Amino acid sequence: MNWPQHRSWPLGFVAMAALGAILLWKHPPGKESLSAQATLGKLIFHDTGLSASGQQSCATCHIASLGHASSKGIEPGGENMQQPGLRNVPSLRYLKFNQAFQRDGEGKVSGGFFWDGRADSLQSQAGEPFLNPDEMANRSKAEVVLKLQQSAYASRFVTLFGKAIWDDSEKAFAAMTQALASYQQEDPVFASFNSKFDRVMRGEDKFTPEQERGWRLFTGEDKANCAACHPAQSDNPKVAALFTDFSYDNLGVPRNPLIAANRDAKFHDLGLCAAKLENAQNKPTTGECGAFKVPSLRNIAVRRVFFHNARFSDLREVIAFYASRDTDPSRWYGSSSQRFNDVPGRYQNNVNSSEIPYDQSAGEAARLSEQDIDDLLAFLHTLSDADLTAAKPPPAVSKGLPKSTVYAGR
Ligand code: HEC
Ligand code: HEC
Repeated sequence: MNWPQHRSWPLGFVAMAALGAILLWKHPPGKESLSAQATLGKLIFHDTGLSASGQQSCATCHIASLGHASSKGIEPGGENMQQPGLRNVPSLRYLKFNQAFQRDGEGKVSGGFFWDGRADSLQSQAGEPFLNPDEMANRSKAEVVLKLQQSAYASRFVTLFGKAIWDDSEKAFAAMTQALASYQQEDPVFASFNSKFDRVMRGEDKFTPEQERGWRLFTGEDKANCAACHPAQSDNPKVAALFTDFSYDNLGVPRNPLIAANRDAKFHDLGLCAAKLENAQNKPTTGECGAFKVPSLRNIAVRRVFFHNARFSDLREVIAFYASRDTDPSRWYGSSSQRFNDVPGRYQNNVNSSEIPYDQSAGEAARLSEQDIDDLLAFLHTLSDADLTAAKPPPAVSKGLPKSTVYAGR
């Protein structure tokens, strides 16, 4: 090697190479890096300083190791962390494929965020928890913006949105919700498609015989028919199956007496028909009273509490409920006269009673056997993202009812 030539390497080149090495070290190949806006969103998502109690952030209720859902299901919040919640904390994964609430030509509804579809986008959803008195409980947008302005990451707002950002709290609040949406859209952890199911579909792995039987039951239209609402195949060649079509249905899930609001026998969470939808033209109908959005079943096996009212805390019980809701109603409602006890009488006709697996009658043999239920459970275990099967989730602190508890209704 020729020394003089070596010494004449331009300084700029050396600096670039060093910078490249640092970037590679910070973001090893294969690890996608987040945009500045999404990185800001991630900081906000984890900041308990943005709540009135100083104890709650998005991540307190949406815990990554539980598929961004919670272990209690119904989470308390508010200024003193004593306000009881009303609905189960849903998983935040795979939501970037959801769209605004809509009604098609035939009247079928789908899309929207929350169990009742009231928010039209991840961005508009993200504003609600900050101001919800049962959650982060700030009194105004300006109060949240003041906290942002005093945060350790305040300068990032200025870099991204300009110095004037603090002059207008509406704008600053909107920038914050935009950052939260970007985080959920960009971070690969929210849509990694690396479960065993995905590997099997790509031909890189094989189901066990039990999982294979479960898959056939799940997709079998005359069997469990789960895929009718939780599709196991995608119409979009670029996106694998999401296990939800983001539609709505009324399953007649039994009442959960552990929800504080349910101490009032007259209280009913009516779901979609009571929702204040963002686009007021989308008026729900009374036929939609008691309907809730179909959640994705990806990562369902790491979840602790199930359904909008967190009534179940054991996944096998959920499948058993589907199998024998109609053939053995007293198992689920205490007695058959208490059937659908979380739906007021005038709306009980809305409960889906025609489609498989809900088309049976009391006393009939259930279409799904105990073995079928085990097989379905084995299949659902293949839907967990790789980061969740590797990590050890926190211990259960379930607020669902203990296994097999029957609530007799009021
Ligand atoms: C006190 C617990 C709690 C906190 C804090 C909280 N959430 Fe939630 N989240 C919930 C519950 C409960 C629901 C369902 C509420 C409903 O449907 O009415 C929900 C729903 C959502 C949804 C809609 C999911 C879907 O399937 O459509 C998103 C997205 C979300 N939260 C993101 C966030 C973000 C971002 C934050 C922080 C700004 C946050 N959450 C803070 C409990 C919480
Ligand atoms: C006709 C539509 C439909 C069919 C068929 C269906 N589901 Fe569901 N599923 C839903 C809806 C709607 C919800 C949410 C209901 C609620 O919370 O009130 C749900 C919720 C669930 C949940 C709880 C998810 C959560 O995040 O809490 C599980 C687990 C589940 N379904 C599994 C199954 C299995 C297994 C089958 C087949 C045996 C099945 N589903 C068939 C519509 C359906």
